[in-house]
Amino acid sequence: MSASYLLRRFSTKPPSRFHRNLLSSSFSMDLPPVLSRNALIRPYSSTTSNHRTIFNNIRRFISPCFRQSKILPNWVSEKTRSNSVSVRGFSTSVETITGDKSFERIHVQSSLNSNPLVIERIHKDEETVGEPVSRVEVNEIRSGEVREESEAEKEAWRILEDAVVRYCGSPVGTVAANDPGDKLPLNYDQVFIRDFVPSALAFLLKGEGDIVRNFLLHTLQLQSWEKTVDCYSPGQGLMPASFKVRTVALDENTAEEVLDPDFGESAIGRVAPVDSGLWWIILLRAYGKITGDFSLQERIDVQTGIKLIMNLCLADGFDMFPTLLVTDGSCMIDRRMGIHGHPLEIQSLFYSALRCSREMLSVNDSSKNLVRAINNRLSALSFHIREYYWVDIKKINEIYRYKTEEYSTDATNKFNIYPEQIPPWLMDWIPEQGGYLLGNLQPAHMDFRFFTLGNFWSVVSSLSTPKQNEAILNLIEAKWDDIIGNMPLKICYPALEYDDWRIITGSDPKNTPWSYHNSGSWPTLLWQFTLACMKMGRPELAEKALALAEKRLMADRWPEYYDTRSGKFIGKQSRLYQTWTVAGFLTSKLLLANPEMASLLFWEEDYELLDICVCGLSKSGRKKCSRIAAKTQILVR
Ligand code: GLC
Repeated sequence: MSASYLLRRFSTKPPSRFHRNLLSSSFSMDLPPVLSRNALIRPYSSTTSNHRTIFNNIRRFISPCFRQSKILPNWVSEKTRSNSVSVRGFSTSVETITGDKSFERIHVQSSLNSNPLVIERIHKDEETVGEPVSRVEVNEIRSGEVREESEAEKEAWRILEDAVVRYCGSPVGTVAANDPGDKLPLNYDQVFIRDFVPSALAFLLKGEGDIVRNFLLHTLQLQSWEKTVDCYSPGQGLMPASFKVRTVALDENTAEEVLDPDFGESAIGRVAPVDSGLWWIILLRAYGKITGDFSLQERIDVQTGIKLIMNLCLADGFDMFPTLLVTDGSCMIDRRMGIHGHPLEIQSLFYSALRCSREMLSVNDSSKNLVRAINNRLSALSFHIREYYWVDIKKINEIYRYKTEEYSTDATNKFNIYPEQIPPWLMDWIPEQGGYLLGNLQPAHMDFRFFTLGNFWSVVSSLSTPKQNEAILNLIEAKWDDIIGNMPLKICYPALEYDDWRIITGSDPKNTPWSYHNSGSWPTLLWQFTLACMKMGRPELAEKALALAEKRLMADRWPEYYDTRSGKFIGKQSRLYQTWTVAGFLTSKLLLANPEMASLLFWEEDYELLDICVCGLSKSGRKKCSRIAAKTQILVR
């Protein structure tokens, strides 16, 4: 097997425990593969290719694509070199990781430049492990039939392939946009975690798993980055918003490739990429489900990655609600848009990530507390959203008649919402049939805007009840011209105008009314809509929207977003050849053509969750558990 490389910078001190783990992982590549429940697990470094990595204070993730002589610090014992099975440099217990941040980071990977799936295949064959080598192949055979691709699809595949980013020769993601006319790409030449999800699904549904696997493993590496924003370090477990492959000259003749992540420290507005880790977990599950390669999620380093994200999300704070408290712009809407606090998009992704984690985490002594916390949070979160975020004509009428200033544990108007807050547009807009989940809920504040991604993802993940899910699609149908119009789909509805725009966006010239995040139309949202429609047995709605998009996207050169109330014009600052527009279109097509595959990506109602209530009030009898009192409503709605 290959040599391992280690360069040590700065410190001559013996390493911390965390640090020792990092080092021990570095030398695990000479170990034989470990046999797990479903498949072979290779020690970490042999499944990621050809990297020597150095973590240090100057933000470098260096991975040379050539061999150097081995440099080992003398405090690495022989035993460590030969015996370690620790992976990715983390202890397998999440508890021991947190708090141990102040160390010099050195990370080493194998220089074996091999295709991970291929390696596993060979070993599985040799050892005749009963699992299929790769479900991707099985699926290809199963689906069998060849579907005629439209011109738009053919072009979309070409653009998607061109957007692929390679790192040391392997595909690891797709750039956000490849607009040849763009003189100032800013960070659109980077691989964004959230943007890659539809690309990943398109590749997976086509039978190409390697790029997704590489992406998941490389971003996992970036998770453990020492990140600092003006001398402050955000929490362990944070996933970057994006990363870039840079080529760094070492001397006149040699250059190295470097993965350079952005955790928000360069991003416009310094927004926190809260959704990245959630998307990473969702994609990890999707990879397993579609390819059948569950060995990836079973790896210790990957399990640790899940735990770190979950620990960060579940950490105690001052919160009064089970929803995740975040700053403005921490998701797809990554600029100030008045979505700080508890925005729906984050909650629905959080809920999905909790469900994915519960499915993927192996339960053992080190994870059982986390799994319990996940279950409790799932249950509390779904109750909270179903009960307090839901609006339909009946609920608006209730709010309209709310009493305020109620001081009591069983107040009806728990959040002290003043009825004057109901915006005039909503009174006219809300249809007789249908409803939706609010954009945000805080003390004395309901954001009544309709946010598309959050609502669709609630349907997909069953955060909302089956009846609410149906009602959300009914609302889309009833409000087709507003949400879909000439181009699917409005990111939110309606736009912030006049003083609202000035005060809430901070007079953002990109987020003017009916543009960009302020009610622009984003074709990438098509895939989420398709998934929601398919889950609810209404694919014809998605087909109708897709047909509309197909008519224009290719001719318009695949814009990032469209402007105006009906989505008539290409967005004024919209990039062209935006990868997630292309990928969202392809993924919608593929999902509609493969309903069986689509069904692997959504969740049904989990009735067990409704029974979990940990508040203990039912036993004491002194106070009433509001949840138990409300339970009938949750199911009926
Ligand atoms: C914009 C979008 C963001 C996306 C990025 C790259 O900033 O708001 O969601 O990830 O562009 O496409």
